[in-house]
Amino acid sequence: MQDILVQLEAKRELARMGGGQKRIDAQHKKGKLTARERLEVLLDEGTFEEWDMFVEHRCVDFGMDEQKIPGDGVVTGYGMINGRLVFVFSQDFTVFGGALSEAHAEKICKVMDQAMKVGAPVIGLNDSGGARIQEGVASLGGYADVFQRNVMASGVIPQISMIMGPSAGGAVYSPAMTDFIFMVKDSSYMFVTGPEVVKTVTHEEVTAEELGGALTHTTKSGVADLAFENDVEALLMLRRLYNYLPLSNREKAPVRKSGDPIDRKDLSLDTLVPDNPNKPYDMKELIVKTVDDGDFFEIQPEYAKNIIIGFARMDGQTIGIVANQPLVLAGCLDIKSSVKAARFVRFCDAFNIPVVTFVDVPGFMPGTSQEYGGIIKHGAKLLYAYAECTVPKITVITRKAYGGAYDVMASKHLRGDVNLAWPNAEIAVMGAKGAVEIIFREDKGDPAKLAAKEAEYKARFANPFVAGARGFIDDVILPHETRKRICRSLVMLKDKKLENPWRKHGNIPL
Ligand code: COA
Repeated sequence: MQDILVQLEAKRELARMGGGQKRIDAQHKKGKLTARERLEVLLDEGTFEEWDMFVEHRCVDFGMDEQKIPGDGVVTGYGMINGRLVFVFSQDFTVFGGALSEAHAEKICKVMDQAMKVGAPVIGLNDSGGARIQEGVASLGGYADVFQRNVMASGVIPQISMIMGPSAGGAVYSPAMTDFIFMVKDSSYMFVTGPEVVKTVTHEEVTAEELGGALTHTTKSGVADLAFENDVEALLMLRRLYNYLPLSNREKAPVRKSGDPIDRKDLSLDTLVPDNPNKPYDMKELIVKTVDDGDFFEIQPEYAKNIIIGFARMDGQTIGIVANQPLVLAGCLDIKSSVKAARFVRFCDAFNIPVVTFVDVPGFMPGTSQEYGGIIKHGAKLLYAYAECTVPKITVITRKAYGGAYDVMASKHLRGDVNLAWPNAEIAVMGAKGAVEIIFREDKGDPAKLAAKEAEYKARFANPFVAGARGFIDDVILPHETRKRICRSLVMLKDKKLENPWRKHGNIPL
């Protein structure tokens, strides 16, 4: 018995040492933590239960039968984040560059399958040179097995990817199908083909960082949601995000009451919107002043900034916020912002998180680049997402709600549950100036007449009461009561039940 215990400990120690001290030192030198150190930061102390520590690859080619390291380059298992269950896998770059073998993939699949069975999220910490080159097609099969599970788990359990090193080629597609991707600045990158291949095929000279670093993906491509300075910051922020989420689609998000009273008034909101409708203001100010303790976890803050998305709590309950941002492109909807918000609304809908929408939208962005880029199809994604969404939907129009964009932004017509407007809201087909220039085209040379018509149009349409008269909005509220009204609506909607008709799946415009 004693012998076995010694053997067991020796094997465990071998697994813990991964690719050996030299490679661990190299990992640290790059400013990166090891796979196990990362799990220590991510999980509550002492909660990690490791699985498959003794799994080894089965490859015999290229001398691989001589090189076996228990665990085979990925640490898997489950643990707790603030007392709530989570399944994890953490790729170990010190073992064959974290490359994915058949056995390595099987370990990942095992935790994913178990997570699906018990209904708990999967977090993947990615740090890998891609498919295990020595294994060839066996490792490609392993990737596909993971992809299939990513798709089956989508909308069932939250899946979060943290990119903490290389993620290239086929390796990008598992994270791509998860709900959120975080990246670490300067030490992580994601691309389908690396700089060398790019140079050969397109003759472009680009560094790995420029092609697929954290800044590229959080500002240009929108592939990643957030970029962090280092491993520790990224993992701690991931713990924060986790607190907002339910464990699965069978549950609601945890309620964490704060001392922030639901009827807290913020009188400064009464003067947030400038009198001049062409003057911007910062929608984030409204969000921060409305939610519990001013605590807003923004997603994709540096991408498509004309729309804001993120999580917050109201009266302790997690909500997803979508808000037009008048500070950027006047808050217009364009291709990027539509796609950004649509995916977020669908996440909230899949995971029982109410959606609160703040609207100040002058319309869709005009122009050839938008039309050629397919704004019709991409804008339709947001419309589709809101229309199919069955979780509680609360909408507050703070100023402009013009044209088709009014319809799209969680309007009453798309089964909005509670639709409120501030007194200065303008719910109309378009702004008064544009409307008059079209209707009274023949008076183009008569500025005085046009000005009079514009004033008339404004008086007639630039207010919330025309929509109010039809019941398209439920009430006109004072800005300072926004928090109270949303909190009360959430209580009223707590047990909302709404189902869409049975279908295999809808056909969202892609
Ligand atoms: N399969 C097998 N082993 C791999 C590997 C892979 N895909 N990627 C990296 N490794 C091994 C390396 O051989 C090296 O082994 P060693 O420590 O015994 O020398 C170790 O992992 C570290 O790799 P190294 O190249 O020294 O690290 P780096 O930080 O300089 O570069 C990469 C990292 C990912 C850019 C580089 O390893 C690479 O290009 N790998 C191949 C990527 C690829 O083409 N993957 C297949 C397609 S999906």
